[in-house]
Amino acid sequence: MSVRRSSVAALLASQELDREVLVKGWVRTRRGNKFVQFIAVNDGSTIHSIQVVANAETFPEEKLKAEGVENGAAVAIRGTLVASQGKGQTVEIQATDIEVYGAADTTTYPLQKKGHTLEFLREIAHLRPRTNTFGAVLRLRHALAFAVHQYFNDNGFFYVHTPIITGSDAEGAGQMFRVTTLPEQNPPLNEAGQVDYGQDFFGKATNLTVSGQLEGEIAAMALGKVYTFGPTFRAENSNTARHLAEFWMIEPEMAFYDLQDNMDLAEDFLKYLVRYALEKCQDDLKFLTEHYDKELLTRLQFVVDNDFQRLTYTEAVDILKSAKQKFEFPVDWGTDLQSEHERYLVEKHFKKPVILTNYPKDIKAFYMKLDEDGRTVRAMDVLFPGIGEIIGGSQREENLEKLQQRMQEMHVPEEDLWWYLDLRRFGSAPHAGFGLGFERLVLFVTGMANIRDVIPFPRFPRSAEF
Ligand code: 4AD
Ligand code: MG
Repeated sequence: MSVRRSSVAALLASQELDREVLVKGWVRTRRGNKFVQFIAVNDGSTIHSIQVVANAETFPEEKLKAEGVENGAAVAIRGTLVASQGKGQTVEIQATDIEVYGAADTTTYPLQKKGHTLEFLREIAHLRPRTNTFGAVLRLRHALAFAVHQYFNDNGFFYVHTPIITGSDAEGAGQMFRVTTLPEQNPPLNEAGQVDYGQDFFGKATNLTVSGQLEGEIAAMALGKVYTFGPTFRAENSNTARHLAEFWMIEPEMAFYDLQDNMDLAEDFLKYLVRYALEKCQDDLKFLTEHYDKELLTRLQFVVDNDFQRLTYTEAVDILKSAKQKFEFPVDWGTDLQSEHERYLVEKHFKKPVILTNYPKDIKAFYMKLDEDGRTVRAMDVLFPGIGEIIGGSQREENLEKLQQRMQEMHVPEEDLWWYLDLRRFGSAPHAGFGLGFERLVLFVTGMANIRDVIPFPRFPRSAEF
């Protein structure tokens, strides 16, 4: 008689006992004695493994070993789901049949024992999803991505797909990866002796996008409220625990929103995402709290329960200047804040998430709306404990002349962005948006310490193995 396969998650939640079940997964551990063997099987559906009890009469240890029922093997287990005799689980499977799909050589399988360092696991990115830690991180990552779409869909936003290959530099920062099909040797040259991208695949120089914002604005000027959620690429040489060369960004863009509306949305959105994880990923969060960060659950709950502190850059600089703490980088009005400053504000001074607004125009992108004083722009950065900047956004400059002026000042070529300027020529309207770094969010919610441990295949300087 054939039984339908169940997930480990479904079996562990099942009230229906003393029935035949079939489960497929990977052996996490096998232990026991000459009377009975215990095999922990995990299939990724939950952090928990199900305990399989194999009676030595049917399954003597030598037979299990010979068949390869060892750590890492892929197996199918048939048996009876029963109430567990032992501690640590409520149900277990009394095995009647054990099939091995693929063994894992005990002498060479790298995940033989527990307690590998995260650094070591980074070197085996193809196997680390099989650990409890990465299973938890990847399930949380999924839940958060799903919650992003849920939130926007419930609130009348449309998901737009912005291009990965672009001919413009959205942030005007020039830290981009070139995309070209020109030959490496002897590429065509122009009269000035430079590579002639006019002869390249797209007839112009193209790069991987650093942000979907500019195209997001196009969509917002037609659909009202939109968002993008896609990969972005930055060739900045930042070898830090907060930076990746390839990361995912969520960028909502809303017509008729000002900076206040933008802040309200950012705060509501972040709280929704954290609340969603708290509700839907309890087991994984409990595991991460126990093993990595004892304060994790408290910190997440705190973010959900408290208002973010809102203040201007100028006010923040005043606070930092009168702070007792010595900073490595001095603070003065007009300089960009370093992460030590951001963390002082969040972790020491206010002890809660902070939204900083109205930064000096010279340290922000060309598209941000100029304030009346002509010195600051309607920017907003959301700063989180342990993370620093998690969101960057702004109200956009909707006035054609002012935008052109800013582009000139910041040497952003108009001819590349004629279409962006057209949005200000035809039916321009106040609008605003922001970018949430998805990995920084996952970093915050999982309590992990390094951004390279919250994306399956991290890309950073000198690393693109997997
Ligand atoms: O502040 P950023 O550069 O803003 C933009 O790109 C705007 N176009 C967003 C918008 O208004 N639509 O980046 C936004 C966020 C940062 O706050 C940070 O969370 C994340 O993206 N981020 C990175 N995450 C990982 N690695 C990097 N190298 C990152 N650079 C930015
Ligand atoms: Mg930023």
